[in-house]
Amino acid sequence: MAKLQAPRGTFDVLGDAALARVELERTARRVLESAGYARIETPTFEATELFARGVGEATDVVQKEMYTFDENTESITLRPEGTAPVCRAYVEHGMHKSPQPVKLWYLSSFFRRERPQAGRYRQFWQVGAEAIGSDEPAIDAELILLLSELLDALGVTGVRLRIGSLGTPGTRAAYREELQAHLYRYEEALSDEVRSRIALNPLRAFDADHPGTRQVMESAPRLLDRLTDEDREHFHTVRGLLDDAGIAHEVDPTLVRGLDYYTRTVFEFTSDALGAQSGVGGGGRYDGLIEMIGGPPTPGVGWAAGVERMLMVAARAPVGPPPVDLFVAWRGAPSRALAFKLAADVRRAGHAARLELAGRSLKGQLKHADRMGARYVAILDGGEGNALVLSDRESGDEQTVESETVLHHMRSGF
Ligand code: HAM
Repeated sequence: MAKLQAPRGTFDVLGDAALARVELERTARRVLESAGYARIETPTFEATELFARGVGEATDVVQKEMYTFDENTESITLRPEGTAPVCRAYVEHGMHKSPQPVKLWYLSSFFRRERPQAGRYRQFWQVGAEAIGSDEPAIDAELILLLSELLDALGVTGVRLRIGSLGTPGTRAAYREELQAHLYRYEEALSDEVRSRIALNPLRAFDADHPGTRQVMESAPRLLDRLTDEDREHFHTVRGLLDDAGIAHEVDPTLVRGLDYYTRTVFEFTSDALGAQSGVGGGGRYDGLIEMIGGPPTPGVGWAAGVERMLMVAARAPVGPPPVDLFVAWRGAPSRALAFKLAADVRRAGHAARLELAGRSLKGQLKHADRMGARYVAILDGGEGNALVLSDRESGDEQTVESETVLHHMRSGF
């Protein structure tokens, strides 16, 4: 039989890697909940139409990367991202009736059928934050600040922030035509790929490495120069707030994000410490998204950051395994029930307790307990009644005590 392995682009999370994730989650919760973001979980799969409408038919994500299957007559897709699902939940639960903006955060796994490489997986995790229901520029700035603080708290190095503005859909539509005209004018100089996508996604031309295309793009019109006064003012205010907060950033007039729902502010954090996949996290405003998926016109803004990428470049504070307060060593069937009850009672009282479960010799059990750093060991060796030997592994002291008094001894010392 062929060896069974985790599917391509997926991985198991074990040992230290699992501990590092718990720590990351704790940090994200502290940073986001102190700013009033509440946790949300949405289903792992949604109606395909949510992503087709929300993320955009023309995007790579929707065109090539979705895991889609049929459930009876409905087409279902494993979520490739979290913003459209959170907006769907906002509409479904009538959250527009709550005080605005509604601030939500998540740590969930997402699925994209991409070519796997370091930092790019087919199932990956994101920490994300969304603020829905206000177009106030201070929210854009607050969210950017929070992601910056999260990366800081994790010790992510070599971080750079790029920011741009995409304006409103109207500005973008006019700009798109202007850009398309420019691309058609210099069509012969472009790469085949860019040429074939002029009609569908002309903005992508800014991403190209192809030298001919790059030259054409140097003289291309810039969206930032075409913003309405209102959008320019919004962008200016966001930038001013970032400056006031001491958040260094570069304006990138060609910042293109892979999802279609963005309006006005867009941003991306990269880390020089990452290789080709340098994007640690990014996001922006999506003032038209909720309407696109069938809700009332509602502004929103948010970001998501890749857990694997953050962990790849985070300062690795060694995260030890959780401490063990008591190890219950026992030998012989008559001791089993008392040992079992003691471990359960100690855990119920709020301490970490482990029970021997592998039939080791008593000597082996003590060694095992010391290896895991157990503070106390209770030794049940078929003694009289409920008596056992309680050993303080720090001082080396041992005492014969009644099992009911173990907690008392652990709390007060010998
Ligand atoms: P995104 O830029 O597609 O945005 O993804 C955000 C982050 O997820 C990326 O910067 C990267 O760190 C990580 N990521 C994306 N794809 C992969 C992959 N295949 N393997 C590993 N990590 C990956 C969004 O998803 C938007 N929903 C962000 C947002 C929230 N915009 C507004 N609100």
